[in-house]
Amino acid sequence: MNFDAMFEEQLQALKDEGNYRYFKELERKCGKFPRAANHEDGQKRDVTVWCSNDYLGMGQHPSVVAAMCEAVQRTGTGAGGTRNISGTNHDHLLLEAELADLHGKEAALLFTSGYVSNWAALSTLGSRLPDCVILSDSGNHASMIEGIRHSRARKVIWQHNDVADLEAKLAALPANVPKIVAFESVYSMDGDICPMKEIVEVAEKYGAMTYLDEVHAVGLYGPRGGGVSEREGLAHRITLIEGTLGKAYGVVGGYITGSAALCDFIRSFASGFIFTTALPPAVAAAARTSIRHLKESSDERMQQRRQVARLRAALDREGIPHMHNDSHIVPVMIKDPVKTRMLADYLMDEWGIYVQPINYPTVPKGTERLRFTPSPLHTDADIDHLVNALRTLWRQCAIAHAVA
Ligand SMILES: Cc1ncc(COP(=O)(O)O)c(C=O)c1O
Repeated sequence: MNFDAMFEEQLQALKDEGNYRYFKELERKCGKFPRAANHEDGQKRDVTVWCSNDYLGMGQHPSVVAAMCEAVQRTGTGAGGTRNISGTNHDHLLLEAELADLHGKEAALLFTSGYVSNWAALSTLGSRLPDCVILSDSGNHASMIEGIRHSRARKVIWQHNDVADLEAKLAALPANVPKIVAFESVYSMDGDICPMKEIVEVAEKYGAMTYLDEVHAVGLYGPRGGGVSEREGLAHRITLIEGTLGKAYGVVGGYITGSAALCDFIRSFASGFIFTTALPPAVAAAARTSIRHLKESSDERMQQRRQVARLRAALDREGIPHMHNDSHIVPVMIKDPVKTRMLADYLMDEWGIYVQPINYPTVPKGTERLRFTPSPLHTDADIDHLVNALRTLWRQCAIAHAVA
C-alpha cells in the first residue's frame, strides 16, 4: 500500500478546488498588537493582523503577561498531571470560581480548549442521559457537532436561528425524553447573534435544557464581559454556558459553567476532562487576570465597538460588500475560493495586511470571504490603510460592489 500516494491524491483534490489551507508563519510582538512579523521565504516582514481572535489584544495586556510570568516563577511550567492525578492546582480552582461568578452560576469546569469543552460536555450529556435528544442549530461549530455525534444520542437539526422551526421540532418529540437545545450566541463566520430570549422561552416551554456556546462573546458583550446572555439578562435561565479563554481573554483553554450537580457530573464522566493533562497553572492565572480586568473595564469593549463601526462605515462609503450583523465580526464577501486567496495574498504582499481567506469547509462553498476583526488597538490610520487597499484591489480585480 502506498499510503503517501493516497494522502497526496486527497490533498491534490483540495488544491484543485482552491480549498487547501496555507498557514502564515507569524511571530507576534508583545506590546505591539496588532503588529506581528510574518516569516516567508526566509524573510521576516512586519504586518498588521486583521483576523485575530485575540479580539481585544488581551494576550499582550501588561497585567495578563505579568500574571503568567509570576505564576511560572511560582509554580513552574506544567500542571504536573491530569486533574485527577496530581494536576489540580490552586490556580485552576481560583479560575473556576472566577468563571462561575462571571456567568452567575454555582460552578465551572475547565478544559484544555473550547473545542474540548464542547466535545466532552455534549458527548457526556448525550450519552449518559437516557434517551436524550439533542436539538442542534444548523450553524453550530464543529466541536459541538463532533460532541453530539460522539454521544450517539438522537440528533435533530433545526434551521439556523429559526425559533419556529425549533419549536416545531420540540413539539414533535415525546414529552418525557430529556432534550437539549444546543446553540451559539455569536456565530463566528457570519457574525450574527441568536434570538436568545425566544430560544430560551421555547426551550423552557418544552422542558428542554439549554446549552449555549458563548465562545465569540465572552469578554466582549455584557457589562462584565459575561457574553450575550449577560447583556440580555438571560444567563440565569440557561442551563449550561460554555466559553473559551483563547479568544477575547487572549490565553488558551475552555470551560463550562452551570449548576454544581451539572459540573460534577461532567467532571466525573467526561473522558475529555479526566484523561488529559490539566492546563498549566500559569495559563489559569493569566486567564483569571484577563477575566477580572474585563469584568471591571469596559474601555476595551467600547473602543472595539468604535473601530468596528468605523470600518463598516468606510466599507459602506466604498461600496465594498460586507455582511451586516450586530457583532464585532466584519465578513467581506468574495464568494469564490481562488479570488479570496488571491486577494488575501495581495493584501499581504503589497499592503502588509494579513487577513486569512475563509474557505470551505469553514463556510459553505460559494460564500468564501475575508473576515476582519477590528480590535481596540487598530488605529484609525490602520483602518484607512485597509480600506485604501481594498478600494484599490476592488478596482484592479473588478469585484462586484453589490451588498451581500
Ligand atoms: C463557536 C465555537 N465554539 C468553540 C470553539 C473552540 O474554541 P477553542 O478555540 O478554545 O478550542 C470555536 C473556535 O473557533 C468556535 O468558533
